[in-house]
Amino acid sequence: MDLYEYQARDLFEKHGVPVLRGIVAETPEQAASAASDLGTPVVVVKAQVKVGGRGKAGGVKIGKSPQEAQEKAEAILGMDIKGHTVHKVMIAEGADIAEEYYFSILLDRGERRYLAMCSREGGMDIETLAKERPEALAKVPVDPIDGVDEAKASQILTEAGFPAEEHAAIVPVLVKLWETYRDEDATLVEVNPLVKTGEGRILALDGKMTIDNNASFRQPDHAALVDRAATDPLELRAGELGLNYVKLDGNVGVIGNGAGLVMSTLDCVAYAGQEFPGKPSPANFLDIGGGASAEIMANGLDLIMSDEQVRSVFVNVFGGITACDQVALGIKGALEKLGDTATKPLVVRLDGNAVEAGRQILSDYNHPLVTMVPTMDEAARKAAELAAKEA
Ligand SMILES: Nc1ncnc2c1ncn2[C@@H]1O[C@H](COP(=O)(O)OP(=O)(O)OP(=O)(O)O)[C@@H](O)[C@H]1O
Ligand SMILES: [Mg+2]
Repeated sequence: MDLYEYQARDLFEKHGVPVLRGIVAETPEQAASAASDLGTPVVVVKAQVKVGGRGKAGGVKIGKSPQEAQEKAEAILGMDIKGHTVHKVMIAEGADIAEEYYFSILLDRGERRYLAMCSREGGMDIETLAKERPEALAKVPVDPIDGVDEAKASQILTEAGFPAEEHAAIVPVLVKLWETYRDEDATLVEVNPLVKTGEGRILALDGKMTIDNNASFRQPDHAALVDRAATDPLELRAGELGLNYVKLDGNVGVIGNGAGLVMSTLDCVAYAGQEFPGKPSPANFLDIGGGASAEIMANGLDLIMSDEQVRSVFVNVFGGITACDQVALGIKGALEKLGDTATKPLVVRLDGNAVEAGRQILSDYNHPLVTMVPTMDEAARKAAELAAKEA
């Protein structure tokens, strides 16, 4: 999960990284009152979007009074930056910048370790710097166990060309940024710019963070960082139910067990859809996982049925650890729970572990919405045909 700048700022503050005060505003009036609460002669109005290059796009502007902050916020709110609409701005204290540096730590999957990057020439365009003058950007491998201690921080600064007398002020900030990275289970912490002020203070002026969602089980606080307003409501509900669900554009709901099987099911449905009017295609990816219980199956089906775009549902299960009788019970349970609100036809293909028991349960149940089809290709075709008919 990518964080907004203001969220990264808050996490930096929590871990003792020096930052300036910042207040989030959603209206120009809130921006004005935030600026007067800050009370500094200069504030910076900053678009909060999860994309880089805000400054260049006109999303970072200076205001020298609450009135000016309000005007700048008025101009920035609603702006489109690379396809992201600005719904919030952060009103930040203005810094007296003497120098701008760059620092980041990221996960280097290829090398199975972390990588720290640092430059004396920070500011807006680190990508250009990396391309045109790579020697100005130090890249220092970081061992995940050892992390960034004072010695490592000093080594990073040396490689980036910082003279020894400047290290003392910056080293503790790099160590704290590492602690933020480690303790928050991040895969990216980037500060651009890390600045030195006229008084010689080091401050993280712009922060970007990516949090590793795989660690959410041990990071209960991170749930609050999810931008619920910007997340598809069905994806939110799926997350709460612990389902692997991705919303897509089409109208055939797809449920399967195992990511590989679900991926190929999407292909089969898209292919089969070609021959029907309107070319029905998958409405979602939903993997109920290995060893799914009747309850998980029922939750999944309930979720897919509540997607308005869905016109037919294809349940494709190859029972390995997952037992087909559990899947059948889940389908039955979901249909019983939905009652009259279940209106979408369901194509079910079951095979593998406990297939006979599973098919038996569904044929005994004999629900008018359920069609059992023995093979994946035929089932995909049937689901596409039904979606086209329901249109
Ligand atoms: N609080 C501040 N006080 C003074 N100047 C600031 C402040 N925040 C940002 N700036 C100036 O604006 C420039 C751009 O700001 P910032 O780094 O936050 O956005 P950006 O880099 O354009 O956005 P992105 O990180 O999305 O690419 C900074 O390099 C800095 O010179
Ligand atoms: Mg920046």
